[in-house]
Amino acid sequence: MKTQVAIIGGGPSGLLLAQLLQTRGIESVVLERKTREYVLGRIRAGVLERGLVQLLEEAGCAARLHAEGIAHHGTLISYGDEMFRVDFTEHTGQQVMIYGQTEVTRDLYAAREKAGGGIEFNVADVVIEGADTDAPHVDYTVEGEARRLDCDFVAGCDGFHGVSRQAIPPEVRREYEKVYPFGWLGILTQTPPVNSELIYANSPRGFALCSMRTENLSRYYIQCSLSDKPEDWTDEAFWRELKRRIPAEQAETLITGPSIEKSIAPLRSFVTEPMRWGRLFLCGDAAHIVPPTGAKGLNTAASDVHYLYNGLREFYEDNRSDGIDSYSQKALSRVWKAQRFSWWFSSLMHTYPHQSEFDLKMQVAEIEFLRSNKAAQKAMAQNYVGLPY
Ligand code: APR
Ligand code: PHB
Repeated sequence: MKTQVAIIGGGPSGLLLAQLLQTRGIESVVLERKTREYVLGRIRAGVLERGLVQLLEEAGCAARLHAEGIAHHGTLISYGDEMFRVDFTEHTGQQVMIYGQTEVTRDLYAAREKAGGGIEFNVADVVIEGADTDAPHVDYTVEGEARRLDCDFVAGCDGFHGVSRQAIPPEVRREYEKVYPFGWLGILTQTPPVNSELIYANSPRGFALCSMRTENLSRYYIQCSLSDKPEDWTDEAFWRELKRRIPAEQAETLITGPSIEKSIAPLRSFVTEPMRWGRLFLCGDAAHIVPPTGAKGLNTAASDVHYLYNGLREFYEDNRSDGIDSYSQKALSRVWKAQRFSWWFSSLMHTYPHQSEFDLKMQVAEIEFLRSNKAAQKAMAQNYVGLPY
């Protein structure tokens, strides 16, 4: 089989790239390891920067987002019983959209299937060949049957545990990593959110986050030990601990309910450089991971897709290669800014092992500086709503 762009991975990165290419008549085939149902079963953050919203509009996949998404013009930050608001719109004129990532992926799948775009599920044994030539191809199997996909370019959108990153020779690749000494225990519950905007909570007992998906579907997180397992936490224990980490007023009004999903995610900062090797381009989690504190995972994948889509479009439409040649440098420049914000916000809001009393005072001082200083709030708002592409 032959196509113009072979896309490994049918998550948000791969599907968004495929759909954008489709709008310009550029052919691609998506190779996904799992089933559609499995991919759509993943519960992921739901904060969309304006850049991602615009890409979804360009891809013709934003109708449900605009119908069902919730615009947020600010967020709340609490420490102990104190709480203040950072107003995105006051500082940036922009907002973010709250819309489940699963729904973004669902909309992208629906668009892909409506357009009759190529997508193969349950693929295995993916091997990228000839990435450093002008005629790469991808070998893979489906139910044991060997297949080959010849292409002009390969987009490695196969996430942190994919194979694309490994196709870049070790002597070329440079990897940067920070593993955080805690995880996030998250639950999904069919209850009204405790507040109309998100609450990021710093407390001496650990971080907590009050988020949502819809007016009657809430998402809550508490910082937990890496040795914890979801089954270690009953719903009652979760609610009790969450109430101890958010301001008393919100704890009193919090509507609890049974968890319909409960999971623990480790936190990691990770970047691989370069994000290009010959005709292979890494996109999204295949190249970088951020702690979820700043909700930058999907949004940084989106900026990668923006740069790669436009580079490929210029190659096919204008016979220009400057876009693909500058892809890695442009993508990484924004990736590192998202890494910085995610690391800063994580350092500000979580408790760390062996923190001294001085360290704790510094954390509160940093939060109170953010509370009292408009320039600090503007800097945070600019990062949260999304830096320009
Ligand atoms: N072959 C084919 N597909 C693969 C392979 C492989 N060898 N390895 C992984 N995949 C698939 C996974 O099954 C998954 O569906 O690649 C997809 C990667 O999707 P994500 O992990 O979601 O990564 P990405 O699309 O970059 O998403 C970026 O969105 O998923 C959220 O917040 C999350 O930061 C992440 C962001
Ligand atoms: C979520 O709703 O899952 C969410 C929101 C904001 C974050 C992280 C996760 O920073």
